Amino acid sequence: MVRKDFFKIQTWFFEYVNGFTSDDQFIRQNYTLKKEHTLRVCDNILTIAGELSFTSDELPVAEICALLHDIGRFEQFQQYRTFMDAKSVNHAELGLEIISRYRVLDDIDPVEKAQIRNAVAWHNRAALPDSQDARSIVLAKMLRDADKLDIWKVVTDYFNAKNKIKNEAIEFSLPDTPGFTPAIYADLFKNGIVKTAHLQNLNDFKLLLVGWVFDLNYNISLQLLKERGYLDAIRSVLPQNEEINRLFIHVNDYINERLN
Ligand SMILES: [Fe+2]
Repeated sequence: MVRKDFFKIQTWFFEYVNGFTSDDQFIRQNYTLKKEHTLRVCDNILTIAGELSFTSDELPVAEICALLHDIGRFEQFQQYRTFMDAKSVNHAELGLEIISRYRVLDDIDPVEKAQIRNAVAWHNRAALPDSQDARSIVLAKMLRDADKLDIWKVVTDYFNAKNKIKNEAIEFSLPDTPGFTPAIYADLFKNGIVKTAHLQNLNDFKLLLVGWVFDLNYNISLQLLKERGYLDAIRSVLPQNEEINRLFIHVNDYINERLN
């Protein structure tokens, strides 16, 4: 991708996103949350791309995947006041519709355009599709890791904040009741990914975040997860008991095995 095209898309992004504002502080706060999230996902994907030896021509394609992956979030929140796709719309599909509507990728190489659209479409799926398009798969894997790394940042900052103002959009309106769902806990020992539909309370959501570690694609992502201490931060807001200790032993063993 040529630099001129990259900057044109980046300029469009800021114009589009900065157009979302509101008198309502709750709405404004969540627009800002997604804008800042997106920019950090761009940083994360560039770090991963560097580790995978992307060339200077390839880096902008990866960065545009990150820049556009959540572009559907703003209209989603404007219309439904939630980030829960199940209660509103699939934000990746909405994002693709917006990319088409504003002709965001119409001037770039059609192969790169298809790769970026695939990465956006696949970033929030439970699993990657069975595609023969190896390049789209790599970009989607990078994006999924980069996205998870930043969602861990957002939620751990939130859970560990002193004087926190409750944000239902981050907590998915789940009740903060004691304990957790045994089936979710058991799945994590089979290195399984927790399904959003199975969440009963906030602790289940925290367990889902722990389980994301099994869906990381690249060692650099596991390393960044370790360095940034996100799992310790989640652990500190889960019940302090023997079951949770056992879970974190399992998860840390898994990470160390993959890194060695
Ligand atoms: Fe995201």
